[in-house]
Amino acid sequence: MSLSKKNAVLQVAAPNLLASITAEERRFLEALDLGRLPRHLAIIMDGNGRWARRRHLPRVAGHSSGVQSARMAIETCARLKLEALTLYAFSVENWRRPKTEVDFLMRLLREYLGRELPSIHKNNIRLRILGRLDELPAGVRDDLARGMELTAKNTGMTLALALNYGGRAEILDAFNRLLASPRNGHGPSSPVTEEELAAHLYTSGLPDPDLLIRTSGEMRVSNFLLWQIAYAEIYFTDTLWPDFSRARLLEALVEFQKRERRYGGIRENDAEQLSKPARAAGR
Ligand code: FPP
Repeated sequence: MSLSKKNAVLQVAAPNLLASITAEERRFLEALDLGRLPRHLAIIMDGNGRWARRRHLPRVAGHSSGVQSARMAIETCARLKLEALTLYAFSVENWRRPKTEVDFLMRLLREYLGRELPSIHKNNIRLRILGRLDELPAGVRDDLARGMELTAKNTGMTLALALNYGGRAEILDAFNRLLASPRNGHGPSSPVTEEELAAHLYTSGLPDPDLLIRTSGEMRVSNFLLWQIAYAEIYFTDTLWPDFSRARLLEALVEFQKRERRYGGIRENDAEQLSKPARAAGR
């Protein structure tokens, strides 16, 4: 199929994926090549507190509103058939927040799971948790275990919630599990390979994220998926997480497709130029 024919098909097909859409969303969808979406999108959902402060509301109101954006991101990514979506919901550093806020976040998560798990399951989404689960409150742990068990055999998108997550903690945990493992066929003092270490990360079996989005204007990776984002495109936006709408998400995907990923190599054209004699290449 010619490229223009393929694009025409995609442009017709794409809006149907998301049911009713706004004119702005349609514009972004039409610019999107559905064959080149990220396999794995990771999001640092930041700015809930500032969103609330600007409205003279308590910080926790920002978190409640942020749940709606999380819901939108999950639904949109599942409809676009991404393989995986990872949301940074609670970091190992977040325990430093006031106890009332931590308790609120844990309650919000349990409410979210109670309300949304049936629809997550119905949509063939598989729930995974990345982080030190054993340090979470027992009620949260039980709900998460139920959710993972319910959706374990689903074959659609993986929704990974990073909870009590830290990138360095993850690498340490992987390393320690590796040390304690029989290392299947490798001698105990043979060098550890990247594949072996990656297989012991919380994300084992998932592709590395191709795109990392961080909202709220902060330009840091904040100890998130440190190993896995080695080659990810990073997209920063000033939009605060509760304002991160479907249009903003589609815009980020369009922007991702404009980037050229080289994995440390060089552009194809440059490679051709290099293989030509200098005079023929016009140098
Ligand atoms: C960062 O904003 C956000 C968090 C620490 C919590 C994220 C949680 C949610 C969006 C809701 C729960 C999600 C699910 C999937 C149920 P911040 O408080 O650091 O904002 P600030 O930097 O403006 O203070």
